[in-house]
Formats: sequence, C-alpha cells, structure tokens
Amino acid sequence: MASSLYRLKFVYWLSFLSTFHLIATRSFSFVQPLCHGHERSYLLQFKQSFVINKTASIDPSAYPKVASWTLEGNNSDCCSWDRVECDEFNGHVIGLDLHSSYLYGSINSSSSLFSLVHLRSLNLADNHFNYSQIPSTVSNLSKLTHLNLSGSMFSSQIPLEFSQLSQMSSLDLSLNHLEIKKPSLGHLVENLTRLENLDLSWVSIISIVPNILGNLSSLTSLRLSDCQLNGEFPIGIFKLPNLRVLDVQFNEGLTGYLPDFQWSSPLEEIILANTNLSGKLPSSIGNLGSLTKIDMKSCNFSGFIPSSLGNLTNLNFLDLSFNTFKGHIPSSFGNLIQLSFLSLMDNELTSPIPFEFANLTQLTYVFLYNNFISGQIPSGLMNLTKLSILELAVNDLTGQIPSSIFNLENLELLDLSMNNFTAKVEFDKFVKLKKLTSLHLSDCGVSLSISETSDNTTLQKFQNLGLFRCNLSKFPNFLANQDELTWLDLGDNNIHGQVPEWFWNVSKENLELIDLSYNFLTSLGQHPILLPWTHLAILDLESNKLQGTLPIPSFSTLQYLVSNNSFTGKIPELICNMSSLQVLDLSINNLSGSLPQCLHNFGDSLLILDLRRNAFEGNIPQAWTSGSKLMMINFSQNKFQGLLPRSLARCIMLKALDFSNNQFNDTFPTWLGNLPNLKLLILRSNKFYGPIWTHKAKYKFPSLQIFDLSYNSFTGSLPLKFFQYSNSSRLESANKLTYIQVTSSIDVQNSVINFSWKFQYNYAMIMINKGVVTDYKKVQELFTALDFSSNRFTGDIPEFIGNLNLKGLRLLNLSNNILTGQIPQGLKNLLTQLTFLASFNVSNNHLVGPIPQGKQFNTFPSNSFEGNPGLCGISLTKKCKNSEVSLPSPSTPEESQDLGSPFQFGWKIVLIGYGFGLVVGVTIGQVMIARNQDLFMKTFGMRKLLRGLI
Ligand SMILES: *[C@@H]1O[C@H](CO)[C@@H](O)[C@H](O)[C@H]1NC(C)=O
Ligand SMILES: *[C@@H]1O[C@H](CO)[C@@H](O)[C@H](O)[C@H]1NC(C)=O
Ligand SMILES: *[C@@H]1O[C@H](CO)[C@@H](O)[C@H](O)[C@H]1NC(C)=O
Ligand SMILES: *[C@@H]1O[C@H](CO)[C@@H](O)[C@H](O)[C@H]1NC(C)=O
Ligand SMILES: *[C@@H]1O[C@H](CO)[C@@H](O)[C@H](O)[C@H]1NC(C)=O
Repeated sequence: MASSLYRLKFVYWLSFLSTFHLIATRSFSFVQPLCHGHERSYLLQFKQSFVINKTASIDPSAYPKVASWTLEGNNSDCCSWDRVECDEFNGHVIGLDLHSSYLYGSINSSSSLFSLVHLRSLNLADNHFNYSQIPSTVSNLSKLTHLNLSGSMFSSQIPLEFSQLSQMSSLDLSLNHLEIKKPSLGHLVENLTRLENLDLSWVSIISIVPNILGNLSSLTSLRLSDCQLNGEFPIGIFKLPNLRVLDVQFNEGLTGYLPDFQWSSPLEEIILANTNLSGKLPSSIGNLGSLTKIDMKSCNFSGFIPSSLGNLTNLNFLDLSFNTFKGHIPSSFGNLIQLSFLSLMDNELTSPIPFEFANLTQLTYVFLYNNFISGQIPSGLMNLTKLSILELAVNDLTGQIPSSIFNLENLELLDLSMNNFTAKVEFDKFVKLKKLTSLHLSDCGVSLSISETSDNTTLQKFQNLGLFRCNLSKFPNFLANQDELTWLDLGDNNIHGQVPEWFWNVSKENLELIDLSYNFLTSLGQHPILLPWTHLAILDLESNKLQGTLPIPSFSTLQYLVSNNSFTGKIPELICNMSSLQVLDLSINNLSGSLPQCLHNFGDSLLILDLRRNAFEGNIPQAWTSGSKLMMINFSQNKFQGLLPRSLARCIMLKALDFSNNQFNDTFPTWLGNLPNLKLLILRSNKFYGPIWTHKAKYKFPSLQIFDLSYNSFTGSLPLKFFQYSNSSRLESANKLTYIQVTSSIDVQNSVINFSWKFQYNYAMIMINKGVVTDYKKVQELFTALDFSSNRFTGDIPEFIGNLNLKGLRLLNLSNNILTGQIPQGLKNLLTQLTFLASFNVSNNHLVGPIPQGKQFNTFPSNSFEGNPGLCGISLTKKCKNSEVSLPSPSTPEESQDLGSPFQFGWKIVLIGYGFGLVVGVTIGQVMIARNQDLFMKTFGMRKLLRGLI
C-alpha cells in the first residue's frame, strides 16, 4: 500500500513538472540590480522557519533548494540564490520555486513570506507544512499570478482572502487536506476571472459544482478530481471556449449528461471516470476534433458507441469501461491511428472485433474483458507490434487462436480466459514471445500441448499462468525452473497420480495462488507438513483423490480449500498458526479426532468454516470470540457430541449454522436468537430435546428463513412464534437471483494488472422430505423452509400461521409429531398465495377434520396427509361430508431449476483492474488517489462453473 501511494504521488508529480516552468533563468547580458535588503532578510527568515527533513518531499529529484540561501562568501545578492527570480529592472523578488525542497514546518500569518509583496509566482508544492491552515495574509500577495501548493500538507478551510487574488491565472491547491465549505467554491472564484488553470483535486468540497465556473472564460484546465462533488454537472462548463482539460473523476455523487457538442472546442482531455454521469454518448462528440483522451470509466453511460468517435483521429486514450454500452465496436475505430490505450471492458458489447483494428499500429493496451464479443480474433493483428496487453477474457470468442498473435513480440500479458475457442495450441508458440510473462488461457476451449523437450532453462520467467481446464495431463516440467510465478492455476485438468517432488520448489518465495483442484491427484508425495511457499495466499486442492495427512500451507494463507478428497488423521495443531485464514474448507474427507482448541486464533479473519462430512468427534471448543467475522459454519455429518458452545452467540456476523447429523445432546439454542443475520439454522438428526420457549421477547431470530429441527426429541408447541415477531423486512431485500453466499477476495501481484481472486462460497445444505434427500449446492436468498418433522411436538397448528411473514416458503414439514386439531384455514390463506411451495407434509399426526381446499392444496399428494385417521378430503380415502368439488388436475409446481442446480457450486471469479504501474506508462499526469484504489476494480465475470456431483 505504501509503495502504491508513493507511486501515485509520483505520477501526479510528473504532471506537475511538465505543467510549470518557473525555473529562474539568469541569462541576461546586462548587469542586474542587486536584490533589496529587506527582501533578502524576508527570504532568510522564511528559510529559517523550517527544518530540512528528507521525508517532507517525495519527488526523487527533490533537494533542499534553500541551501544556497546564505550570506556567507560573496553571496548576498538574493537574486542569485537558487530558485529566486527577481524583476530584471527593479530587482524585486517576483518568483520563488521551492517545490520538493524538503521544507518541514508550519506557516502562519506572520510568516515573512507574505511580506514579499511583489511575488508573481510561488511554488511550494511537495513539502510538508505540518497541516497549517493557509494564512489569510496570503491576500498580501496581490500580484500573484501562479500559485502552487500542491501536495504540501496544508489543511482546513481555504480562506476567503483568496478571492482577492484577482490576478491569479494558475492555482493549484490539490492533494492537501483542504476543504471548501464557507466561503463556497463559487464565492472563492467568482472574481478570479483570469484563471486559466484551476486544480482543486482532493479538496473536500462536498457540494454541487457552481454554475459560475462556466463564466470563467479563460479556463484552459479544470481539475476537480475526488472533491466529493454532487448534484448535476453544469453543461456550461463543457462550453468554456478555451477549456482543454476537464477532469472531474472520482466524484461518485456527480450526476448529469453530456451535451450535444454542436460547437467546436479545443477540449483535449475529458476525464469523467468514477462519476455518476449517465445517458448516451452523443454522436456529436465527433466534433471535438482535438480530443486526445477520453476517460469515462465506471460511469453510468449506456446506448451505442457512436461511430463518429472514429473521427477523433488525435485520440490516444479511450476508456469506456464499466458502463453499459451495447452494440458493436464501430469499425470507424480503424481511423484512430494514434490510439495506444483502449478499454471497453465490462460493457455489453457484441459482434466480432472489427478487422479494421489491424490499422491501429500504436495500440499498446487493449482491454475488452467481460463483454459478449463473438467471432474470431482478427488475423490482421500482427501489425500491432507495440501491443503489450491483450485482455480478451470473458467473451464469446470462437475459432482458432490466429497465428498473428504469435508475432506480437512486445506482448507481456495475454488473457483469453473464459471464451469458446476450439483450438489446439503448442505452448512453445507462446514461449517465443519473450516478453510474455502472464498467460491466462483458463477455460477458453484451448487444449494446450506442452513439449517435454524444450530447453527449460532459457524460458522467460512467467508471473502468471492461468491454465485451468486446458486439457493438461501432467505437471508441465518447465515449471521446475520458474521462480517468479505468483499465480499458478492448473485446476480442472487431467493430471493423475502423485505431485512430483520438484513441485515443492517452484517459486517458493513468490507463489501466492496455487490451484490444483479438480484433477485426479492421489498423493502430495513427500512434503513437509508445513508447505514451503512463504507468501501463499490461496491453496485450492479440492476434488482430487488426495490421501494422507492434511498439509498446512503457509501461515499467511487466506483461503485453504481441500474439500472432497480422502485426507485422514487429525487436523494438525500447526493450523493454529494460520492467523489470517478467511476460508477453511475441509469438508468431505475422512478427517477425525477432536478439533484443535485454537479455533479462536482464526477469530478475527475467518469467514467460512466448513467441516462437513468428516469423522470429527468430541465437543466443539468453546473458543468463539466476539469480533469474529464468521458468516458460515458447517459442522454437519460428523460425530460431535455434548453441548453446543454458548460462545457462538458472540459471532454476530453469522448467516448460516449447520449442526445436522451429529450427536449433540442439548436443549434448543434460544441463545442464538439475537444473531441479527442468522438465516439458516439446521439441527436435524441429533439428540436435541425439550420444549422450545418462544415467548421470550429477547430472542427473536429476526432473519431466520431455513429452520430445520427434524429428527430430534423436541416437545411442546411448534416454535412458530419466532416468525411472528420477526423482522418484517426479512425478505424484502432478498434478491431472488442471489444465493446465500460469502465472498472472500484476494489480490495477487502482477506488474501490470491487478488480478483479484474472488471466491464466492455458496452455502450448501441437505433437506429431507418423505425420505427423499435433496442436496442443494447453493441456496437462494429467498428460500424459506420450515422442517419440524419427526419430533414430539404437541398441540394445534396455530391459526396465526396464515399471517406469518413466510414469503418464499418452499417447504413446510410438520409430519411425524403429535399435533392435534384441524388444519387451520389460515394456513390455506398462506399457501394459496404462494406459487412455489414445493412440499407440504403433515402426515402422521393426530389431525382431524377436512383438508382445506384450494389450488395449492390440491397439488399435494395424499401422502402429505396420511397417517391422520381423523382427516378427510378429496385426496384421501376418507371423504368429507360436505366437501367441495375438486379443481382440475394439479399443475406441476415450477420447482427446482432456480433452487440451484446440483451441478454448480464454488464459483470463483477473477477480477482485474489496471493499476498504477500501468497508468504511469500511459497517462502521465493523471491524478490517482489511493483511497479510491478500490474503484479501479469492479466485479465482473464468473470464472468457473465446476463440474461433478460430490
Ligand atoms: C520529518 O517529517 C516527518 C513527516 O514527514 C515528521 O513526522 C518528523 O517528525 C520530521 N522530523 C523532524 C526531525 O522534524
Ligand atoms: C467580487 O467583486 C464584486 C465587485 O467588485 C464584489 O462586490 C464582491 O464582493 C466580490 N466577491 C468576493 C467574494 O470577493
Ligand atoms: C465524421 O466524419 C465524416 C467524414 O469525414 C463526416 O461525414 C461526419 O459528419 C463526421 N461526424 C461527426 C460527428 O463529426
Ligand atoms: C486505416 O487507416 C488509414 C489512414 O491511415 C485509412 O485511410 C483507412 O481507411 C484505415 N483503414 C480502415 C480499414 O479503417
Ligand atoms: C501489415 O503490415 C504489412 C507490412 O508492413 C503490410 O503489407 C500490410 O498491409 C499490413 N496489414 C494491415 C492489415 O494493415
């Protein structure tokens, strides 16, 4: 983080140096007047008010410019001092350029600086003024035309006195901790009619953009990046006759539209990224013939990309990513022969890449990730010899990989993942691209053949190899000589047998991600219990046939997945040192023994703990601590015993808790009733007993939706009151298309792009009805199920059941209890409103009277009611005396597909974002601000649809 902040400031810095040329030149042949004595002493006083502190400046070429300001030697002419400029006729000090001078200390209103009243330009950027306020005496410097205080640790409100500096033409107050509240921005600038450059980036303004900016007709550059601006952006600003640079990026509250550009304009850069501007990109943008840069990343624009963009032949940077543009990429782009950066990723673009792209010989970076682009990769690409990044993942590309790609000798990163090619490709062809260090071919339809004979020692050092589902049948030998890999994905190939010995030496210091999942590995071979990769963040071994004891990846590991193997033995105590774990999935193995007492060591980071389907025994440790981030815990299908740990009540983030199929012997955990997010509580098939007290107002289970108590020995009345008290907003916000899931995402280093590995863990569960086991690999947010069957509940089914907040009810099972009375009419009200109740079961009770009539009721087969000798109804052999005529034969309830197909689970997603490293090369001068880093990334694309049932 520190280094990216540094880089970011540095990027900014380059812009600053290129914008200002205030270096004093003294190349005149006539004798200049000596400096004025009083001004000399002001300068010396100013110098003495600071200490020289190397940490005060970040520009690598910084040096203490005031060091030459001294009376020693023959040096009393202050006009000869470094970076002091005097008027050539009257000798007054008119310019000071002390940027990056290691100055550290405060400035207050009595500073001698403000006595230098002849100053016209003052540059103090990149020093550290210790959070000083800008003194109001700045108004003494009434002749100032250029003022640069950028990045110099000023704070608080910008004083009203600025409004008196009416000569001001260039004002840069960016990258401080300043704010503009009262007076407002409009007030401050209304009389600064000569302003040409205004940069207030990072000043906290928190207001609308005043219309008055549209009156500052001299403006050539306006930068208001990351100022927390909101409201509608004034159209008038686009019309400013001299404006060349408009930068309002990172103002997420800013709304508005682009105007119809029916005028000519000198606009060169239009930077609206990360705002909320919306609407169409007007075709008239083609009139802005001077444009070199358009950055509209992460806005709300939609519609088609106008083909008139092809008229902007000076364009070298075009970023329309993260919008909802649709249609095709205009073939007129073939005219953009200056274009070096093109990003259209994360839109809804269709159709093939136009073959006119072959014209774009300056193209260096291409991002088309996550669209619906189809067809073949155009074969004319070989003329794009500058191409360094070609990011085409998550599209519908088909056909062969054109051989022209193998001529792109400057290619560093190629990502074709998640496409539909039908291609056999030799790895050797990629190897010939000597600069290629990141190759992602995961799940794109490519069968990769890797020859055994190539000379591994001369291969380039790869950073990323994404070879998921590439039809590999063994570990590629060349990996043995790779020591700079950070990302190695060999998942879902046909690799059989033992992991080779040399594998434990691959990139020991660098590997952050290893995915060997979905292969046929039987053994990890000889390996230390603690695996050797010191920076490993993700280890995924799931769905192999691995035997032996459980390895412990690096202590730094965040996601550890070994589900669906044959590991045996206890969990090694060493696991207690993995203090950053977010996901621990040991499910579906043959692990045994009791759990280590150290579970609380994960307390601060662990989100998911899945121990399902092993042979663990003993009590669950009491270690759960408050502050826990745990969201899902699955203990089901083990041999746990005893009481549930009461301390689980402290895990207030819990969404899902499954204790089913164990030997817990306890009363109902009413004490979990305060967990605000608990949606799923499954206690099925244990030895729980006793009545369930629902009357305590304190414990309400406000979010509970999936509640399975079946196969226990609960007594007393049905615990339906939990749902009566429940939060009325319970299901309002639930999205029908989302699943109960937890996401853990991790960034993996790459020198050019940020890759982020996002793991979406879908909650899996089993439900049993009428002896049929349904295995849900994921569960919709809306899914609601109540299973109280096979207990000893007594009493009536309460009439209020019809009024419960049970939208989304899919299963209601009250069978095999000792319930008496009638099936309440209220229940009919509840059920008949529902279109998707999948099962209803009250069999084997002591219910009496008629089965309510209604559409939904008629869809339930007789075995939903059988075993109640007192019940009568159409579907039963015992008919009621006055029963209504039955409705036509039942329609099959629309069930299943959208409950989550059993074939989908464990989605993983790769996010990318281009980071600062790239931006340095491409957009020198762009202000990048660290706290907005996250906005460079947005979710897109799902990475894997895994195959196979457990
Ligand atoms: C140097 O500057 C840093 C801030 O950049 C400050 O924390 C530190 O105290 C200063 N050191 C001295 C000796 O003034
Ligand atoms: C701007 O100038 C006008 C006219 O001279 C004056 O009335 C007004 O107060 C000035 N505004 C500010 C903020 O100084
Ligand atoms: C783009 O250029 C073409 C041909 O020069 C011209 O006909 C068209 O009007 C231009 N479009 C715009 C929007 O400038
Ligand atoms: C390629 O660029 C040239 C200008 O250099 C232009 O005349 C031509 O129309 C372009 N070709 C395509 C297919 O866009
Ligand atoms: C690619 O370059 C070659 C040689 O410079 C040229 O003959 C060919 O026309 C170019 N192809 C395209 C599609 O521009």
